[in-house]
Amino acid sequence: MTTPLIFDDNIIVVPTPKTPLAVPFRVGIGYDSHRLAEGRKLVLGGVEIPFERGLVGHSDADVLLHAIGDALCGAAGLPDIGQLFPDTDNAWKDADSHELLAKIADRVLESGWMIGNIDAVVIAQRPKIAPFVSQMKARIASAAHTEIACVNVRGKTAEGLGALGAGEGMACHAVCLLVRLED
Ligand code: CDP
Ligand code: ZN
Repeated sequence: MTTPLIFDDNIIVVPTPKTPLAVPFRVGIGYDSHRLAEGRKLVLGGVEIPFERGLVGHSDADVLLHAIGDALCGAAGLPDIGQLFPDTDNAWKDADSHELLAKIADRVLESGWMIGNIDAVVIAQRPKIAPFVSQMKARIASAAHTEIACVNVRGKTAEGLGALGAGEGMACHAVCLLVRLED
């Protein structure tokens, strides 16, 4: 079954999927932010980074892995990361976000999707994350059961603007593409 579309005088024939799931791709967006405080380790993308402060949260507060987990949940139609691992549940206190991301990736695979790619931007006034990006990509790929070549991570400052620019915390935006596995 096909539906012709007419643009000016050109007729373009596009296939009409039988159900929405017949479209073999899903895109997801994820976002997270955490405050920085003294006396905490800074863990980003599953990598411990030397810095005078660390992110605060119920778990290890790995803002990068949380945003990626959220993007995967969004694309796969799963509940969000806060519902899967509630911060009111002591089971997840000081949890290793690498393990949490691996659990989400298991759920994604079980629901019939594989990762096409993951891209993420960490907004951090300091420190520079570029020297740690290749380690982060390897850790993300291992948690998400995908290849390093399918993962990208970039750092951005907030150009001194607002709370992020003042270094009060960090934020992260992530997107992922999921590809339907063969039935
Ligand atoms: O130059 P532009 O305003 O686009 O970016 P920026 O925020 O000034 O950051 C310049 C470069 O520093 C980025 O392209 C990253 O390579 C690096 N960077 C980083 O590694 N870690 C950060 N937390 C911020 C920036
Ligand atoms: Zn978080």
